[in-house]
Amino acid sequence: MVKIAPSILSADFCRLGAEVEDIRRGGADYVHVDVMDGIFVPNISIGIPVVKSLRNSTDMFLDVHLMIDRPHRYVEEFCKAGADLVVFHVEADQPQDLLAAIATVKAMGKKVGLSVKPKTPAEVLRPYLDQLDLVLVMTVEPGFGGQSFMHDMLPKIAALRQMIDEMNPGCELEVDGGVDPNTAPLCKQAGADVLVAGSAVFKKPDRAEAIRAIRES
Ligand code: DX5
Ligand code: ZN
Repeated sequence: MVKIAPSILSADFCRLGAEVEDIRRGGADYVHVDVMDGIFVPNISIGIPVVKSLRNSTDMFLDVHLMIDRPHRYVEEFCKAGADLVVFHVEADQPQDLLAAIATVKAMGKKVGLSVKPKTPAEVLRPYLDQLDLVLVMTVEPGFGGQSFMHDMLPKIAALRQMIDEMNPGCELEVDGGVDPNTAPLCKQAGADVLVAGSAVFKKPDRAEAIRAIRES
């Protein structure tokens, strides 16, 4: 069954603990935490102190998506703050620094993932794939919630499904951006294991129903 990872970017930050509890009760699998630095993406969101607070208030799996420049500088801090999975962008660092960051996260006993922006081809991930616990395909330009799903990313999801099955079958394939009950079936058909959904969960009054609608669509 596909996993659902609601993105708290669309939650009410004034009542974040209650928002996370709501999706836990609603059957969410991961909490997706979008970290933005205003450099790698044209927006600024939340960071290490919020991950620490989340860790202190929930036992849910924290899926931390770093949309930051040169992530190798910060991955250890996010692990210490309590991330269960740290995902960063293949476009955001030099190859040797990406490899160092992957090694750091693993040495901290956490799961590690790499993400690709829409214009980045799937093949760029091949040299890293055997070391990853998760691959994240962006189906919007990263930076903002509530954008429309890019249907032209579906072949890339399918290509990564095939690459993962051949090289590292334990690796999860996550899709992020514009996922709702209409686009979720397309992602599942293309081979996604984990669906991130921000507005399609947190902008709905009944989060359990919203999660069910995405999972079962
Ligand atoms: C975009 C973020 C996404 C975003 C998803 O930069 O990485 O996780 O919050 O939001 P929706 O589901 O509203 O597209
Ligand atoms: Zn994200």
